Amino acid sequence: MKDLQILYAPRQRGHLKKPTWIIILISLVSLFLVCAYVYPPPSSSACYILSSHGCEALQSWLPPASARELTDAEIASQVVIRDILNMASNTSANPKVAFLFLTAGALPFEKLWEKFFKGHEGRFTVYVHASEDKPVHFSRYFIDREIRSDKVIWGRISMVDAERRLLANALKDPDNQQFVLLSDSCIPLRDFDYVYNYIMYTNTSFVDCFEDPGPHGSGRYSAHMLPEVEKKFFRKGAQWFTMKRKHALAIMADSLYYKKFRDYCRPGMNGRNCYSDEHYLPTFFHMIDPSGIANWSVTHVDWSEMKWHPKSYQAKDVSYELIRNLSVWLLFLIFTSMVCTMKL
Ligand SMILES: *[C@@H]1O[C@H](CO)[C@@H](O)[C@H](O)[C@H]1NC(C)=O
Ligand SMILES: *[C@@H]1O[C@H](CO)[C@@H](O)[C@H](O)[C@H]1NC(C)=O
Ligand SMILES: *[C@@H]1O[C@H](CO)[C@@H](O)[C@H](O)[C@H]1NC(C)=O
Ligand SMILES: *[C@@H]1O[C@H](CO)[C@@H](O)[C@H](O)[C@H]1NC(C)=O
Repeated sequence: MKDLQILYAPRQRGHLKKPTWIIILISLVSLFLVCAYVYPPPSSSACYILSSHGCEALQSWLPPASARELTDAEIASQVVIRDILNMASNTSANPKVAFLFLTAGALPFEKLWEKFFKGHEGRFTVYVHASEDKPVHFSRYFIDREIRSDKVIWGRISMVDAERRLLANALKDPDNQQFVLLSDSCIPLRDFDYVYNYIMYTNTSFVDCFEDPGPHGSGRYSAHMLPEVEKKFFRKGAQWFTMKRKHALAIMADSLYYKKFRDYCRPGMNGRNCYSDEHYLPTFFHMIDPSGIANWSVTHVDWSEMKWHPKSYQAKDVSYELIRNLSVWLLFLIFTSMVCTMKL
């Protein structure tokens, strides 16, 4: 109350003498200090005093706190990726979807996929990366569709290499505009037209991407990835994706970030386990084109059991009701993955 009386006093007096000014100044400063102590500012005191709008304006005016000089490799990478991302989409008169099957051997759901593809010839292409045994095919859509493969070890960079190999082979066909990565245990939940239209006419790629502050997320980050990959950019996501051609090309053009993950995101890195197939693509796209990805994947995976591997549906679990539930309750899902994480 005393402070307030002093503040109001000048109005009655008409003009101020020097000591009054000093008292007002001291009062204001002490008021501010008390407030600042009771309500500590969230980030910087400049932002605390200004409105949130003024804050943004101030921050955009000030140079960014993390400004650093980019390395030669980063500048080169940025210009190449920028031009790829600005590329016109759908440059093909006959746009096709490339279905990329990453499998160890046999494809148990081939007959189901044949039903899915039937009648849509010319609008899709199939590529199979079989890392262990050459599968025996039953469907004409799969015969002779194997690409040259290499060994894949679960959790190792060879998993990412296999994905890149599938993308590279599929990119050889200029009609392929969309790229869908699937495992041998994935099945389609919707018909071909639905899948084709959904991904062809959406202008984002469906790459799962989220921030997991726990030990199985950002806890896997290694400071060896600096300066190119800062911890605040480190993301996690499920492996299965659908991707636009420009994003597939961006992966082909990247060696800078790929090498960081190859060398510093691997099992046993500094006593921690990091799996590149869960972190490289989510982090890469979060850095180069955050608004170009949906941040979720069109594949359903059930993690509700909270184990290392997602729930495996057994034959007894699979009913008409389950499939209907998945496709009705989760309106946008296109594929479901029955075993989801491969044991390669
Ligand atoms: C892509 O462009 C071609 C013409 O160049 C057109 O015929 C086709 O319908 C387009 N497809 C999509 C999915 O936009
Ligand atoms: C994506 O499509 C939406 C509408 O469907 C549009 O508003 C948006 O500008 C598009 N974004 C890009 C990057 O083309
Ligand atoms: C995905 O998340 C990033 C930030 O993490 C955001 O900028 C982007 O808009 C999100 N994408 C969509 C389609 O909402
Ligand atoms: C399907 O969804 C309903 C409603 O959420 C649930 O009660 C039922 O158990 C589900 N069935 C299966 C097989 O998942």
